[in-house]
Amino acid sequence: MTDVPLLSVEGLTMRYGTRTGCADVSFDLHDGEVLAVVGESGSGKTTLLRLLAQELAPDAGRVRYRMRDGGVRDLATLDEAAQRLLARTEWGYIRQDATDGLRMSVSAGGNAGERLMAIGMRHYGQIRGAASDWLRRVEIDPARIDETPQSFSGGMRQRLQIARNLITEPRLVLMDEPTSGLDVSVQARLLDLVRGLVTELGLAIVIVTHDLAVARLLSHRMMVMRRGCVIETGLTDRVLDDPEAPYTQLLVSSVLAA
Ligand SMILES: Nc1ncnc2c1ncn2[C@@H]1O[C@H](COP(=O)(O)OP(=O)(O)OP(=O)(O)O)[C@@H](O)[C@H]1O
Ligand SMILES: [Mg+2]
Repeated sequence: MTDVPLLSVEGLTMRYGTRTGCADVSFDLHDGEVLAVVGESGSGKTTLLRLLAQELAPDAGRVRYRMRDGGVRDLATLDEAAQRLLARTEWGYIRQDATDGLRMSVSAGGNAGERLMAIGMRHYGQIRGAASDWLRRVEIDPARIDETPQSFSGGMRQRLQIARNLITEPRLVLMDEPTSGLDVSVQARLLDLVRGLVTELGLAIVIVTHDLAVARLLSHRMMVMRRGCVIETGLTDRVLDDPEAPYTQLLVSSVLAA
């Protein structure tokens, strides 16, 4: 265990032309910690995740990451190959739209096993065995391992994304609305699964959600965003039970009233 944060974000800022995507966002994330990012549509949540994943380049600010060897690196200074390796092995990114996060014409087993090949596993039987194990863990019948996600339901696709991302036991997972569009029972099981994995693997997660109940269930800390800025941040129970910012008060009360 270490006190050095896994992820350390400082002053992250990005504009799309004159429009603000993300303005001066800073936070630390430790091993095994779950941070929920909430805020209205267009508040910059996806922009933030894409900046963290190095898919977008910030206008200002930086993202530092504690590598497995303990060294802290500014992610912008890693070359492309090193960034890609990180993305495939130590990080996961679960997209809001599963069709963006899966290879739709590749079998479920291929989707789940791909990252194992990226870290050098070559034995077909082992990869298939591990993929099959993970399908079972996310409650997809391993008998469907050779089907493509095209024949899967929305909930199954989300669960396949989770298997695909977690099979290499990443240290950090970014999740963009992983449960939106799922019916309540599927959503509850998925959240249970994720919660179990956080405990079991010591995963750190940044999860974007519209749903304050999801934030309550899963996260230790919360960050409320509006127009690209962080309005409020704190322990989840404190933010939800005793919100300080008027905007957060509105957010919490409108959900309770609904
Ligand atoms: N590719 C883009 N080009 C121009 N502007 C963009 C682009 N992507 C996002 N924006 C703008 O940046 C701001 C933040 O968008 P972002 O997608 O990060 O919001 P969000 O919080 O993820 O919203 P939602 O909850 O609807 O997914 C918005 O004003 C949006 O219009
Ligand atoms: Mg978004």
